[in-house]
Amino acid sequence: MYICMCNPFTDTDVRNHLDTTKKSTRVKDVYAACSDGADINCGTCIGELKTMVDTHNNTMTIGELSDQMQKATNKNKESV
Ligand code: FES
Repeated sequence: MYICMCNPFTDTDVRNHLDTTKKSTRVKDVYAACSDGADINCGTCIGELKTMVDTHNNTMTIGELSDQMQKATNKNKESV
């Protein structure tokens, strides 16, 4: 599915980029990467792109979740 029609790129292009990107990425950086550096034109696509970037930035992997749970468990043991 096309995300941007002005500088055409798809949701697959965005996902492929996000798969290789740190979780603190920004919408404008993802846009630049997926549009080969083109400037945002009409901005119609930014809402959908922001949703994808926010999901990427805020989603934990099982490993990350496990690490956080282990740290919390260790912290609780230390305070008892
Ligand atoms: S649809 Fe993406 S800038 Fe217009």
